[in-house]
Amino acid sequence: MPTATARSLAPPSDDKRWRQVEVRMRRLGHRPDGLIEVLHTVQELFGYLDEDALGYVSRSLGVPPSKVFGVATFYSHFMLKPQGLHTCVVCTGTACYINGARSLLAKLDEELGLKAGGTTPDGQLSLLQARCLGACSMAPAIVVDGQVHGRVTPGTVLALLEHL
Ligand code: FES
Repeated sequence: MPTATARSLAPPSDDKRWRQVEVRMRRLGHRPDGLIEVLHTVQELFGYLDEDALGYVSRSLGVPPSKVFGVATFYSHFMLKPQGLHTCVVCTGTACYINGARSLLAKLDEELGLKAGGTTPDGQLSLLQARCLGACSMAPAIVVDGQVHGRVTPGTVLALLEHL
């Protein structure tokens, strides 16, 4: 059963395509197991999945943001913008921010010349930011190719990316 909260959520913009996404979610009963189908619908309509779209789908289906980012970055079919071979999402929500997310971003910029929203020149790695992955107890958290990592430090972030 769809919840009142799910039905009353506002889409990221007043773009009419969001109505089609809403219709799709309603047909699927706003159930968490409709996640992949809904992501397909969003990508078909918009061409890729950005942070606002993922956040909206997460809230609408009641699926934790970490899972939605995980699915969206795990399946190569889904396109985040811009698209590198591997994807690293750094959470900059409040808990992660005060626990060092900024130093993770600084380290990636310093060592790889990579800023949020960018891709390395060799197309290997895209860096994205999220507002909250729903893993605040593990702050600062990141998602690398669909896998959530917690209590990441500037030293361990590079180690995690070295193994891609
Ligand atoms: S603020 Fe980063 S996981 Fe919640």
